[in-house]
Formats: sequence, C-alpha cells, structure tokens
Amino acid sequence: MTNAANSTHARIRRSNLAVPGSSPKMLDKAKGLAADQVFMDLEDSVAPLAKAEARKNIVAALNEGGYDGKVRAVRVNDWTTQWTYADVIEVVSGAGANLDCIMLPKVQNADQIHALDMLLTQIEKTEGLDVGRIGIEAQIENAMGLTNVDQIAAASPRVETIIFGPADFMASINMKSLVVGEQPPGYDVGDAYHYILMRILMAARAYDKQAIDGPYLQIKDVDGYRRVADRSAALGFDGKWVLHPDQIAAANEVFSPRQEDYDHAELILDAYDWHTSAAGGARGAVMLGDEMIDEASRKMALVIAGKGRAAGMQRTQAFTPPDAG
Ligand code: GLV
Ligand code: MG
Repeated sequence: MTNAANSTHARIRRSNLAVPGSSPKMLDKAKGLAADQVFMDLEDSVAPLAKAEARKNIVAALNEGGYDGKVRAVRVNDWTTQWTYADVIEVVSGAGANLDCIMLPKVQNADQIHALDMLLTQIEKTEGLDVGRIGIEAQIENAMGLTNVDQIAAASPRVETIIFGPADFMASINMKSLVVGEQPPGYDVGDAYHYILMRILMAARAYDKQAIDGPYLQIKDVDGYRRVADRSAALGFDGKWVLHPDQIAAANEVFSPRQEDYDHAELILDAYDWHTSAAGGARGAVMLGDEMIDEASRKMALVIAGKGRAAGMQRTQAFTPPDAG
C-alpha cells in the first residue's frame, strides 16, 4: 500500500478555497488567489432559490478558464436533497472538460459514492469525455458517514479525498458548542475532535486518499486558523479549507514542511541511498550526524520530502558522502 504523499496521482491541496457559486464576482476573484484548490459551491453557501443560477455561473466560470495550476472542484448538493442529479448533469455536461472533481457532501455510505460514480460515467460517455478522469471528494459530516468511512474511501478509484466537515458534524452528534474548530466548553481533557480526525486519516491512508480538514469560521482570526490547522497538519492531514483570502497563506505554510525539516528529509534520503549502496558499504542502519537512520527513517523522510517537492520547495543543503570529504 502506498502513502498518499508519495502517490503519483496525488494533487497538492494544502489550501482548499470555498467559493459560493451564486457569486460571479467571487468565482472570478478566486482565479488570482494562491489557493491550491478552488471548490465552487452549490450546497450550503447557496440559498435554495439561487441554486439554478449558481449552476450556470459555475459552468461559465469553468469554461472561461483562468484557474491555471489549481484543482477545480464543484460541490454539489447531497443525495438526500432533490438537487444532486441536476447539479451533476448540468455542471459536468456543461464544463466537464474544465473540471477536476465533484465534491459530494454529507456522504453516509459507499452506495452514495457508487451512485455518483455511475452518473459521472454516463455523462462522460455521452459527452465524449475521458471516462473516470473526474474525481470525487467525499465529505464526512455525520455519524453515519464516519461509521462507514472505510467503505466510502474504498468505494471507487475516483475518490481522491476524504474531507472532515466539522460544522455539520458537530450538529450531527449534538456537540454542545457553536464555534467550529474550537473545543466545546466543558471538555477539558483533550481534543474533542481527535477521534474523528484520526478515523478519517486512517481511512484515507489505508486507501491511498488525501485527508482534508474542514473550515474555520472565525475568518478574522488568522492565528486561530493557524492553531487549528497546525493540529491536523501535525497528525498528517494534507490540507484544510479556506473561506477567506487571508487564510490561504497560513494553510499553504502550515501544510508544507518547514524548510529545516524538508532539508533534513532530503539529507536522510541521500545519506541512506549512499550508505546502502555498494560504494557506501551496503549498510542498513547508519549514523547521520548524531542520529541513527534505517529503512523506517527513509519512509518518514519520503513523506516529508514528497510534500516539500509537491509544494515546489528547494533544498538548501547538499549531501556529501563521508569519503568524498
Ligand atoms: C462543511 O461543510 C462543514 O459542515 O463543516
Ligand atoms: Mg457541511
């Protein structure tokens, strides 16, 4: 089983910008922002009466282009509403060639992924698009979804990400708090979200998907955003939603390795390569400075180096084989 950080198909998604499909102005502004992914919303940020118009805005924005270098996703409404099928048909028939993923909210089981997969396949065939190119991003936002997260992750090769939706999730489990991302008052013995985050992360890693953290709603509090993002990044998440341009730089920084960690990871890879080679003595456990490194160190270093390379980082230290002085 590979790790998502090393997967050749993994797209970089440190910052995932939410843009309401009802706002042509915001759809346009997103083109110039430094987010890794833009997702155009048809769900909760769009009022029911504005959804039909939002579909048209999104198709127009995607076909106009300008989102170069960004992952382009559209969040449709969930399968319990009356809108999902028309969202998917209108957006994919209208702009399928200019779209990378459909984000499906409030996923509860693998059948909901299968249904979207089959609908996408039919539209791709009808429109002459590459069958299977459009990915699926699955939001886990309720107790049923979390209970079935392994099957959801495994339901289709189209699934690229498993996303935590904290606001809906908090409502789903009756959490006694209204502040997304912060700890519920009264819970003073740890992180109330730890189990949920780890459960999602395990499913994502087991099935080679990316794990994405959801929104932080206090958009003026960038320090608060950074604090919450730091936690999921530390666990191994690949990125987080951003709701405001000010959160983008923080996400891109938090979900990239620190320069010193990136340099160290590249150094471990080079040193391990050299020491395990015939020229380096074909040894499996060796010293790098004061640190002993072995095959497990190489795997950890690959994750950090993979994230750094994907983020376009440059190393600032070269490896010199000991014999070469
Ligand atoms: C996002 O969709 C959330 O519910 O937090
Ligand atoms: Mg939600």
